[in-house]
Amino acid sequence: MRPLEWSDKWSVGLDIVDDDHKKILQLINRLGEMRREGRAENGAASVIASVAAYTDYHFRREERILEAVDFPELERHRAIHGRLKTKTNEFLQAVLEHPKLVDVEGLESFLVHWWQNHILEEDMAYRPYLAENPEAEKIATAE
Ligand SMILES: [Fe+2]
Ligand SMILES: [Fe+2]
Repeated sequence: MRPLEWSDKWSVGLDIVDDDHKKILQLINRLGEMRREGRAENGAASVIASVAAYTDYHFRREERILEAVDFPELERHRAIHGRLKTKTNEFLQAVLEHPKLVDVEGLESFLVHWWQNHILEEDMAYRPYLAENPEAEKIATAE
């Protein structure tokens, strides 16, 4: 599987959100490196835990911004996030319980496709709402 590479076409128009997306792509790529180097059995759990934690952190930020800019599709978007969180946590649980049995390549492939589709299709749909709203950046950095 080819590593995910961020380029300008991935930009949603707000640096802090783009940085979150870059960080998530990096973590997914790290999982791929580990698998290719044969270190997934021992190391995948900690990378998947980082993916799960950062995904959570990013979704909270993104949803806070979408709420503030009155994104009309927020509830649908939130539901999509919720399903991915559940799936990522299920994988994490499985890898913690049975590190040898988990299909890390399958997870990697799932995450690559999920994130690529989500950022380029779903996240891109809110781009115009951020562009019209200078408050978005302030909200993005508030905890
Ligand atoms: Fe999203
Ligand atoms: Fe996002």
